[in-house]
Amino acid sequence: KKLIIINGPNLNLLGKREPNVYGNLSFTEFLDTIKNKYSNVSLEHFQSNVEGEIINKIQDVGFDYDGIILNAAAYTHTSVGIGDAVKAIQTPVVEVHISNTFGREEFRHHSFISPNAKGVILGFGLQSYELAIQSFL
Ligand code: DQA
Repeated sequence: KKLIIINGPNLNLLGKREPNVYGNLSFTEFLDTIKNKYSNVSLEHFQSNVEGEIINKIQDVGFDYDGIILNAAAYTHTSVGIGDAVKAIQTPVVEVHISNTFGREEFRHHSFISPNAKGVILGFGLQSYELAIQSFL
């Protein structure tokens, strides 16, 4: 299986950013562990703080990868463009969030991704990503 994790804005700061919400582990540390555990899976990772770069990546991989694991972070709640990109492609997208966005501010309760996602996994910390990987196996 060929999967990619696409992370949106500020997720490059994982481990440093609000550790009470997002944990102490950096994403690279987490990714190393998960790549070892799922060594039979081709697992790529892309992170950008730029909305258009995320859209470009979704388009690039969206017709030949087996799955996209997308944490669009704050753009989840604002980006019609990323929502449209998810709708435009063929590769199934699983939306993930580290935190339980429904337990947080009202503006995090709406997602432009969810209507066109295969499924949504949220609130399990970094384990949300692992559960998303498992959903494609
Ligand atoms: C997040 C939740 C978003 O509301 C927030 O803007 C993020 C991270 C999460 O993984 O919990 O940056 O997507």
